[in-house]
Amino acid sequence: MDQQGLAPETLAAQGLGEADPVSGGLAPVINLSTNYEQQPDGSYRQGRVYTRADNPTSEHAEQLLAALEGGALGDGPCACALFGSGMAAATAVFQSLLPGDHVLVSRVLYWGVRKWLAEFALTWGLDVEFTDTADLDAVAAAIRPGRTRLLWVETPANPMWEITDLAAVCGLAHAAGVRVAVDNTVATPVLTRPFEFGADLVIHSASKYLNGHGDVLAGAVLAARRDPFWERIRSWRRNAGAMPGAFEAWLLQRGIRTLFLRVHRASQTALDIATRFQRHPALAAVLYPGLPDHPGHEIAARQMRGGFGGMLSVRVAGGAGAARDVLAAVRVFKRATSLGGVESLIEHRRGSEGPSSPVPDDLLRLSIGIEAPGDLIADLEAALDQGRLQ
Ligand SMILES: Cc1ncc(COP(=O)(O)O)c(C=O)c1O
Repeated sequence: MDQQGLAPETLAAQGLGEADPVSGGLAPVINLSTNYEQQPDGSYRQGRVYTRADNPTSEHAEQLLAALEGGALGDGPCACALFGSGMAAATAVFQSLLPGDHVLVSRVLYWGVRKWLAEFALTWGLDVEFTDTADLDAVAAAIRPGRTRLLWVETPANPMWEITDLAAVCGLAHAAGVRVAVDNTVATPVLTRPFEFGADLVIHSASKYLNGHGDVLAGAVLAARRDPFWERIRSWRRNAGAMPGAFEAWLLQRGIRTLFLRVHRASQTALDIATRFQRHPALAAVLYPGLPDHPGHEIAARQMRGGFGGMLSVRVAGGAGAARDVLAAVRVFKRATSLGGVESLIEHRRGSEGPSSPVPDDLLRLSIGIEAPGDLIADLEAALDQGRLQ
């Protein structure tokens, strides 16, 4: 089917619209084979040899995600490679750099990436520097022309939801020959397509919104160009064995069918909750880019389309103890880590990250799902009141 001109919602809902050529089934088949038959002349019918390198079920999900992230690129969808987890995807990018390369990374970012960089980047020979990517002067000052090879940005950034101006940092980085990688897990291509702002690479934890049901661990790297760095990332995946299983890839493409509905619903409810609780006496702050007094609000309004995402954090006025009381008191929100699923989650983020975490002790992170907004608001209201009485 010709995909030209179709809205991303349509592509997502129809899973690219291809019926299975063998059965005519609308739901794609799952291909679990680990190996492919070699012909008498030594060739392979479709070029695939072994599933660690290529798998048709993964390719289906990759094409779908490439169409969603890259739809606005002039020369067609970008390249996409699925990985066994978001961390496998993120580290594949860092491990495709060379010893001695200087890397600039958002100061506020998903702790797993920060932890990996802290533990392994040095042994890999990378010179990693954390900087405030929301501060353009700081980014400009930190770039070392000729030495900086990668700028890694997460926006909105876990768990304070700081916003980086993608067009501006891409402009600064490209002027110095620096590649820009954007972790787009939280915004998803529904709200932000980083390639439109100049990003070179887009990374996802597909375990979050893309799958959306809390039952798949997967990741993805997308590239605006199939250049040698992209080939190195693909080669890393094949040789390190970082492919997802075919079943995970199949579940992922199924989850993507409802991506737009889920993200729009979560974003609307998150905005309702943030607006409703922003001046609640039990809270010291509500951190959400959709609130006009959020420092990144104007940029978010420019680079996020149709919503500000389903993630927000609250800082509880009574401090760490009061935060833990609120956490203990919720009944509808589920106490769990992760984000981007259909059910709403609440988490004491510093507790999950451990003692080295820079996250304030009074902060609770909320991942808003698709439940009735009234149930979530009533639950939070009751938990905050109960927390205040203790
Ligand atoms: C923004 C972000 N990036 C990357 C990851 C890592 O993904 P995974 O858990 O799939 O390895 C996460 C996980 O929470 C995340 O929130």
